[in-house]
Amino acid sequence: MLGMNVPETIVITEVCPRDGFQNHKTPIPTDVKKEIIDDLCGLGFSRMEITSFVSPRAIPQMHDAPEIMRYFNEKWKGIVRGIALVPNIKGAENALEAGAKSLIFALSASEKHNMANTRRTVEGSLAELREICGLQGYEEIGIGIATSFTCPFAGDVPAEDVVRIIGASLDFGVAHITVADTMGTASPLQVEKTLTRIKKEFPGIDFALHFHDTYGFGLANVLTALRMGCDSFETSAASMGGCPFAPGATGNLATEDLVNMAEKMGIGTGIDLARLLTVSRGISEKLELKLSSHTVGACRNF
Ligand code: COA
Ligand code: ZN
Repeated sequence: MLGMNVPETIVITEVCPRDGFQNHKTPIPTDVKKEIIDDLCGLGFSRMEITSFVSPRAIPQMHDAPEIMRYFNEKWKGIVRGIALVPNIKGAENALEAGAKSLIFALSASEKHNMANTRRTVEGSLAELREICGLQGYEEIGIGIATSFTCPFAGDVPAEDVVRIIGASLDFGVAHITVADTMGTASPLQVEKTLTRIKKEFPGIDFALHFHDTYGFGLANVLTALRMGCDSFETSAASMGGCPFAPGATGNLATEDLVNMAEKMGIGTGIDLARLLTVSRGISEKLELKLSSHTVGACRNF
C-alpha cells in the first residue's frame, strides 16, 4: 500500500513576533506589533513566541519586550501560550518581571555562533541556564539550540554537540527542546543524521524543529522530520525571520507553506489556511516585505 508513515496532527509554534520581527531592518512600531500578534493569535495557534528579552543594543527591535509581554498577557493569556526568548539570566529575570510564564533559552550548538550571538561559551550558557532553571515564577522552560546543523563561521556542526546540550538541559529540568537550523543550510540527509542521533540518545523525548528556508530546503526538512515521527515545528507567518548574528540566513520556513503542505497530506494543524493567508498578506503589506512565502506568492486570489 502506498502511503507515508507520518503523524496525524502536528503542533505549530508561530515565531513571527520574535524570530520574524528581530531581523526586520526598520523599526516596527509597538502598536503594529500588537496588531500582528492579535491577528496571529486569532488564528488559533496554541503556542507563539511573543518577544525576546535581549540587550536592546544587540537587537534594538526588541526594546519594547516588557510592553509587548504585558499586552499579550492582558489579551491572550490562557488562550495562547506566549513564549519569551532569553539569552541570559538578566533576560530571564526581566521576562518574569514582565509576566512571562514560558521561557525559551537561546544558545547555539556551535561555539563560534554562541560567542557571536550571546558573547558566551557554550559552557557559560549552560551554567546560566542552570541558574535560570532555579528561578521562581515560570511554568515552562525550553531551549532553542541554534546552529544545530551548520554554523555560519564553523561549517557543519557535529550531532554530538547538540546531544551534549540536550543531555545537560534535561538534567536541569528543561521541558522543551527546539533543534534549529538557523542558517537554513541543512540538507534532509543532515537532518536525518542528527535527528537519528538525538533519538538514539534520548528515546521518547519530544523536540521541535525550527527550519529557516534560505535555500528552499524547509519543507524537505520538515518531511524528513515527519517521517521520523516528529510532530512539532516552529515557523513564521510570511516567512519572516533570521538571526542578525548569522550572516547569510534568511527567513523561517513560512507557516502557510507548512500548513498548506500538511493540509494536502491530511495532517491536522488546527489552522485555517485561507485565514492564515489573509493575515500573512497583511503582515507583508504592513511591513513592506520584499520576500514572502511560496503560498502567498502562488495564491494571490486564494
Ligand atoms: N536584556 C536587556 N539588557 C541586557 C540583557 C538583557 N537580557 N543582558 C545584558 N543587558 C545589558 C546590560 O545591562 C548592559 O547594559 P549597560 O552597558 O547599559 O550596563 C549591557 O547589556 C551589556 O551587558 P553584559 O552583561 O556585558 O552583556 P552580556 O555580554 O552578558 O550579554 C547579550 C550580551 C547576551 C545580552 C547580548 O549579546 C544579547 O542580547 N544577545 C541576544 C542576541 C539575540 O537575540 N539573537 C537572536 C535570537 S537567538
Ligand atoms: Zn530562527
